[in-house]
Amino acid sequence: MKLGELTSALLAALVLAGGSTASLARDASAEVSAQELKAKTDYCKTCHGLSGQGFRGSVPMPRLAGQQPDYVKNQLQAFIDRRRTNPVMFNVSHVLSPAMLTALSTYFKDLSPKPLGGAPKDSLAAGKKIYEEGVAAAEVPPCASCHGPDAKGADAFPRLAGQLYDYMIRKLMNWDKERGQDKSNPDNSAVMQPIAHNLTEAQIRAVAAYLSTLD
Ligand code: HEC
Ligand code: HEC
Repeated sequence: MKLGELTSALLAALVLAGGSTASLARDASAEVSAQELKAKTDYCKTCHGLSGQGFRGSVPMPRLAGQQPDYVKNQLQAFIDRRRTNPVMFNVSHVLSPAMLTALSTYFKDLSPKPLGGAPKDSLAAGKKIYEEGVAAAEVPPCASCHGPDAKGADAFPRLAGQLYDYMIRKLMNWDKERGQDKSNPDNSAVMQPIAHNLTEAQIRAVAAYLSTLD
């Protein structure tokens, strides 16, 4: 009951935040040629992988394949606005035209490479349980209630299936330092803040390991 109330309050907040990005789509009326888009996506793939599968290095490059267009667009805009702090992605995204930003947001949706894998296998069952049931004692709602039963996301809720283990751990451990950094311009990252905050490192590792195996 308590968790249910929390989730619906968070969802209401998300819908409100989502409204502000709608104007962005309307501004992007100019066309992007197939050639321009290919040149740009070839560049993205040097880091994010030829099929958008991500790359497991000392700095993990997140998977973009199958990612929800609304979420991709929100993140590119957040990098530009420095609401989400990342120097590399600021440099990549602040030069994009509104039309290119929209085209890139949908480009990766239809790619479906196999997950890269590589996570330890000892806590997959614990991770699945957290994903499906949440952690009631820590007021963490089921991840599935927002990210979907198959973890494929929807609209502004990102796909987590097949996302890189190391990347998800880093994001959940550093949420407060990297996301929602402009307090005068709050965004959807506020929905995840208490969730990331309330999970222990062991719980984060378990749920990230589970998600990284999903197709
Ligand atoms: C030089 C390497 C590099 C290039 C080129 C690059 N990226 Fe990234 N990208 C990154 C890194 C590193 C991150 C992770 C940032 C973080 O840890 O928060 C990232 C994150 C992202 C995210 C957020 C993903 C998520 O799950 O939240 C999106 C969206 C993204 N990049 C899109 C693009 C697009 C589109 C292009 C091409 C126009 C591109 N990137 C080019 C390195 C790169
Ligand atoms: C109330 C809805 C909600 C619940 C419950 C929820 N999330 Fe999220 N999550 C979101 C939203 C919305 C975002 C995107 C935030 C943004 O746009 O900045 C997100 C983003 C994320 C990201 C960042 C993805 C990326 O590519 O960088 C991870 C990882 C994540 N959630 C994991 C989880 C896990 C694990 C759980 C369960 C323990 C969970 N979430 C529960 C709404 C939720």
